[in-house]
Amino acid sequence: MNMYDIIRDKRDGKKLTAEQIGCFVKGSTSGEIPDYQISALLMAMFLKGLDKEETFDLTRAMKDSGETLDLSSIKGIKVDKHSTGGVGDKTTLITAPLAAACGVPVAKMSGRGLGFTGGTIDKLESIPGFNIALDTDQFIKNVNEHGICVIGQTAKVAAADKKFYALRDVTATVDNISLISSSIMSKKLALGSDAILLDVKCGRAAFMQTEEAAAELGQMMVDIGKSFDKKTVAVISSMDQPLGRAVGNSLEVAEAIRTLKGEGPDDITELSVVLAGIMIYLSGLASDTDQGIETARERLKDGSGLAKFREMAEAQGGDGRVTEDVSLLPAGRYSRKVICTEDGYVNSIDGQLIGSASMHSGAGRAVAGQDIDPGAGLLLEKKNGDQVSAGDVLCTVYSNDESKLSSAAQMALEAFSITADRSSDTPLVRRVIK
Ligand code: URA
Repeated sequence: MNMYDIIRDKRDGKKLTAEQIGCFVKGSTSGEIPDYQISALLMAMFLKGLDKEETFDLTRAMKDSGETLDLSSIKGIKVDKHSTGGVGDKTTLITAPLAAACGVPVAKMSGRGLGFTGGTIDKLESIPGFNIALDTDQFIKNVNEHGICVIGQTAKVAAADKKFYALRDVTATVDNISLISSSIMSKKLALGSDAILLDVKCGRAAFMQTEEAAAELGQMMVDIGKSFDKKTVAVISSMDQPLGRAVGNSLEVAEAIRTLKGEGPDDITELSVVLAGIMIYLSGLASDTDQGIETARERLKDGSGLAKFREMAEAQGGDGRVTEDVSLLPAGRYSRKVICTEDGYVNSIDGQLIGSASMHSGAGRAVAGQDIDPGAGLLLEKKNGDQVSAGDVLCTVYSNDESKLSSAAQMALEAFSITADRSSDTPLVRRVIK
């Protein structure tokens, strides 16, 4: 089969066969197909689109392009969770132990991620001693003994995705529903859970700006999951402002701990409880999502989610005392307060700018492999709808590099839009697609 013919067929709007797609994915992973032909086909796919069958075929070929995990020796219905990402999104740190405390086996592999902060495993690594590099046998043992384990995902999972994503990132071919959903679902399916919960963000600081576009992406991923016989649910949630108040690695761990104690911000608490509740439902431990959400809320209240967080951390070598004393987490030595210059109400907080400020403070990485500052980031004092006066602190920027504070603080200031009138609240959970 000739790559030239495959590119020409898609360029001319033809439907690709499973064989053509398989050949493209295999040749891209092995290195036989040069980057310029891979990029050309990705662009043709972006412009001409893939139908459902082509998207399923692409997902299957990508899933099979690398390592797959066999979790069958873990008892119970394993549920994985994925978020399409957002500023301040630390829900996994709360949702996963909360679901595990209710009996859901959580065997989670996460990536490090690029951007405003590290990924879930970077955040967990800010807990002194926490080991995210357990081998598969130990990973499975931890889930069987403790009901939860979160480790780093190897680049060998859905290997084709690593190649494609790197090329999509530099050829303006990221934001396409078939390409995004095959990328996400190939990795989730390779990781072997029985059910998948997807948190698809919509809004200014998300890939999908509108609820409709996010719902289209969510529906496609749910359809893919079902075609692989996995129970799959997508929650469409707002990303109009950062989630919670903390943005940064150890800052987010501290906020997750506070949330598990019932002292977290309302938005992150509510979303985490809803997501944990749906995981409980997907695991067959609740008859419907409402009952699952109720159970998750009770486990948050009685402290069993926090106890499970501590158990997970200690089972992975981490210092569980952080759950009692968050000052044991690394902190930025330097800080700068960002001061409001006018009276009014916070009308919006631009997530992209807060994300850039966080990255600038040292909390995120621009290229893979870069070190991050675990103590860097921002704490928001004000959120959408809050009344403010000139002189109030809007947020505080933290870093271990004093020279990074000024520009990060300037970006953070620009992120806040203050208006004379209070804007109306938008619901956090927009819809659930089953
Ligand atoms: N996240 C992924 O893993 N892949 C995409 O294509 C977009 C977001």
